[in-house]
Amino acid sequence: MNFKAIILAAGKGTRMKSKYPKVIHKVCGKEMVNHVINVSKKSGVKEIVAILGHESEVVKEKLPKDTMIAMQTEQLGTGHAVMMAKDYINEDDTIVVLCGDTPLVREETLERLFAYHIDNEYHATVLTTKVSNPTGYGRIIRDKNEDLLKIVEQKDASEEEKLVEEINSGIYCFNGKTLRESLDLIDNNNAQGEYYLTDTIKIMRDKGQKVGAYNGSTIEELMGVNSRVELSRAEEIMRRRINEAHMVNGVTIIDVNSTYIEADVEIGNDTIVYPGAMLKGNTKIGSNCTIGMNSSITNSQIGDYTEVENSTIIDSIVGENTTVGPYAYLRPKSNIGNNVKIGDFVEVKNATIEDNSKASHLSYIGDAHVGKNVNIGCGVVFVNYDGKNKFKSVVKDGAFIGSNSNLVAPITVEEDAFIATGSTITHDVPKGALAVARQRQVIKEGWVEKKNQNDNK
Ligand code: UD1
Ligand code: CA
Repeated sequence: MNFKAIILAAGKGTRMKSKYPKVIHKVCGKEMVNHVINVSKKSGVKEIVAILGHESEVVKEKLPKDTMIAMQTEQLGTGHAVMMAKDYINEDDTIVVLCGDTPLVREETLERLFAYHIDNEYHATVLTTKVSNPTGYGRIIRDKNEDLLKIVEQKDASEEEKLVEEINSGIYCFNGKTLRESLDLIDNNNAQGEYYLTDTIKIMRDKGQKVGAYNGSTIEELMGVNSRVELSRAEEIMRRRINEAHMVNGVTIIDVNSTYIEADVEIGNDTIVYPGAMLKGNTKIGSNCTIGMNSSITNSQIGDYTEVENSTIIDSIVGENTTVGPYAYLRPKSNIGNNVKIGDFVEVKNATIEDNSKASHLSYIGDAHVGKNVNIGCGVVFVNYDGKNKFKSVVKDGAFIGSNSNLVAPITVEEDAFIATGSTITHDVPKGALAVARQRQVIKEGWVEKKNQNDNK
């Protein structure tokens, strides 16, 4: 059985009041349409066809490369949208239709829908749920035997039909052959003048083909996002879901309400996450780490037993048993080793710092390679920029850079070299050498007393 998904994403999403198409607005760091694609793949769908229309190029850019695209230049309704994918619908396919604006649907729910569809040998199965306020949704109309009869849209519903609390989620399974045939028969004679996908149900039923409605989920999972308010509601639900999944996996989250973890982040067990942490993008955090309050970590890897506090880490790698912060800033391409200390107000950019090295306070380390067991004193600046170009510094194993020194790149400090405090180093320093580059101290005995006498004249 070949499962193929058609994802409807051609609409503009007027109520978002956005210049961007609705489906690329993000929930927990991932575009809504990509949540839908992800979950489809996880539930066993092999091929995805996205129906695009509004700002299709912008949407296409965000989709996984293996997504097939069908264009719907005019949005004439959900049935019309599916027709645009007709070339992709083979007779023996099982076609799953989803909307790009229902990001909360879960893998288990889709799997149960597929099983229900297959086990009952339905030609079409719609996923439904019951809600106390069904306004706006299509209503599920069942016959006396509780079998699915048809779906009626809000605007076409009679007063009696409007009272029905079971609604259409907009997610369906279809037999490929039956879907193709019934799409040919839908028209736009309805309140909205649109070609409704929902009309295929009645068409099949009238032909004597078995159709089903699977009431198998909650509105929390099936809600469509049409406005920013609904977007924030979806975000809240997804955030709670993500946080709970990490806790189930053995991560301690001190305050779930103030911890923001995006959808693709991985965290090892026995790691503790404190309030205000923001873990974003493709971040991977090891086991037994402490992610302290207000730490923002984006697209970075953190090794086991590492502590990060009140720091920002972007596009970087941090090893094991290392400490970062408080108030450190690791900018892109920082590669920090094991047992390293990056202390307060240390900024690192495009630099490797190998195992057992320390920069404990107030340093800037940019465009550099720092070896093992190096000590970078307080206030050291790697001077990497002459106003036009950037240059690289190399500090080899065991070197000691005294406090408040400047290393003017390009420069190499060889192994075990020692830079005296307050030096501005402009030439390479040989292995094991001391480099002093500052004015000698001058002592003028009795100078203060003389000054005071002069001042009082
Ligand atoms: C649709 C269903 C309704 C269901 C609801 C669930 C129909 C006729 N109605 O209504 O029964 O309860 O979803 O959320 O199917 N789209 C296109 N091209 C179009 C029209 C829509 O790609 O020509 C896309 C939209 O971008 C959106 C999705 O299809 O992602 C749903 O369309 P929308 O207009 O929001 O349908 P609803 O009126 O919500
Ligand atoms: Ca909708």
